[in-house]
Amino acid sequence: MCGIVGYVGPKATVDVLIGGLRRLEYRGYDSAGVAVVADGQLETRKKAGKLVNLEHEIAEHPLPKAHIGIGHTRWATHGAPTDGNAHPHLGGPAQKLALIHNGIIENFAELKAELLAEGTNFASETDTEVAAHLIARAFEQSGDLKAAFASVMNRLHGAFTILVVHQDQPDVVLAARRNAPLVIGLGDGENFLGSDVAAFVEHTKRAVSVGQDEIVVLKADSVEVFGFDGTPVNFTEFEVNWDASAASKGGWPSFMAKEIADQPQAIADTLMGRVRADGRVVLDDIQQMSTEQIREIDRIIIVACGTASYAGDVAKYAIEKWARIPVQVELSHEFRYRNPIVTQNTLVLAISQSGETMDTLMAIRYAQELGAKVFAICNTQGATLARESDAVIYTHAGPEVAVASTKALTSQIVAGYMLALALAEARGAMTEDARLALGRELLQLPASVSEVLANIDQASALGTAHANAKSVLFLGRNVGYPIAMEGALKLKEIAYIHAEGFAAGELKHGPIALIEEGQPVIVIVPSPNDVDSLHPKVVSNIQEIRARGAKVIAIAEAGDETVSQYAESVIFVPKTDSIMAAVLDVIPLQAFALALSTAKGLDVDQPRNLAKSVTVE
Ligand code: AGP
Repeated sequence: MCGIVGYVGPKATVDVLIGGLRRLEYRGYDSAGVAVVADGQLETRKKAGKLVNLEHEIAEHPLPKAHIGIGHTRWATHGAPTDGNAHPHLGGPAQKLALIHNGIIENFAELKAELLAEGTNFASETDTEVAAHLIARAFEQSGDLKAAFASVMNRLHGAFTILVVHQDQPDVVLAARRNAPLVIGLGDGENFLGSDVAAFVEHTKRAVSVGQDEIVVLKADSVEVFGFDGTPVNFTEFEVNWDASAASKGGWPSFMAKEIADQPQAIADTLMGRVRADGRVVLDDIQQMSTEQIREIDRIIIVACGTASYAGDVAKYAIEKWARIPVQVELSHEFRYRNPIVTQNTLVLAISQSGETMDTLMAIRYAQELGAKVFAICNTQGATLARESDAVIYTHAGPEVAVASTKALTSQIVAGYMLALALAEARGAMTEDARLALGRELLQLPASVSEVLANIDQASALGTAHANAKSVLFLGRNVGYPIAMEGALKLKEIAYIHAEGFAAGELKHGPIALIEEGQPVIVIVPSPNDVDSLHPKVVSNIQEIRARGAKVIAIAEAGDETVSQYAESVIFVPKTDSIMAAVLDVIPLQAFALALSTAKGLDVDQPRNLAKSVTVE
């Protein structure tokens, strides 16, 4: 949840740290802070609130020119978002050590009791501060900072990425990770640390993903990695395929606006090299599994959270219809703790933009313990999910900075379609003609998404017009159902209004009682040509709610004029396969939420109480 950056090198360290924090601010924005060591002196600045408050603080109280430092942007867990609870935290009576932390130290209470008994004074209410005092104390006793650091890491339980600088060792940043992300950026005469590559991508594209229970000793001209037991670890670097401009707004008023507009490219990049012109899907990413093993899969369990779980719901419809494998979709946090039935023939598919969502990581670890193979759909190179899965289908959406997921979702859905078609081929579940036709339809999606975006003003105007709505309901059937839930989630998270997504057929079983005069309802209408004949049923549902006073906005297929008679407004999207329509239908809902939130004057990219990457359970 928190963002972490570290630097050793010749550049102006404060600028490198603030630049890195700006790119990581999506991870948490309750407070921010930095520590540098200059002329053998440790200096820190920290401030509650967004990064801009820290920048003002540094402008008023400038930091000295330094060549080493650490920076942090916080999503509060233990202790309110105050100046005092902001990181870095100082360790030891002489306060020579500064420490930043992402995660939760679960045994902090017992460690704090131990330190309090020795007379240690605490300056914050955080779980983090115990680690700073413990390391400072161990260093005073041994004079060996790395050994002191390692000994304390071995005592901590829970999830942590921790970075430390000490004024008596002014050439090194020490870092450790367990159950929280940490990536090294390799430079020339300089090196970096970050929660993800966005922290340093403007300086270097050479990166190393740090493994579980590993310690990094980072100097300007060297990087060493050790296990918590002190054993040296060999590491391999990878090249970051994002460029720095991809993580900036590029003239758009918000990251969310830019990321909505990025979708044709994100989808095209995700399809690239994986779907041939004739429509055949060639998914090298899952080659770890032989055709024989694919045939033996008797069930797929998709684990994911939030928006990613709705991508999973859409994938379920595609996999079951095209590959004829039973699929269940589970929220990762529910799956892990309900003793699920998983066998060696179960394929667990984890979907996550960040690849760092702790609930999803715990779910796959549990599934692996039970003998399942784990595939991942992930957007972030070097992420823990990618490292720990048996195979990864990367979405190539580029960095998604806005907390509200948009291009990551549509790319995840497209990855799910490709997987479904690859499984269908391996299992001989469809005729080749039908399969190739779907593959060719997939290739049309970027152009169709561009068409939706070309007419997006209509959805935006409707969003603005509903700025005073107290509640908006969303209805859909089949793949329209998860898209309805996604539309509602977008409104909740960025516009703070009550919104709910329902399966349209479920309405009469209770929720229709919510409908009163003037209630806005957005309805995802299936294609009138759909083989499952859902169209007339949804049109009936629209009539039922209109009869009770609902004001209907319909998202319908181009040419579906029947709907116009029953809705106040209709947003038309291009014709495509009925399951692929999910990708097109969701885009007006994103624009609706964006415009409504903007009209309310809210911070679209950094909504209250949230963080982009949820690295605590
Ligand atoms: C989406 O708008 C949300 N911010 C959230 O539901 C998100 O999709 C969820 O936390 C999962 O994140 P992940 O894809 O990084 O695992």
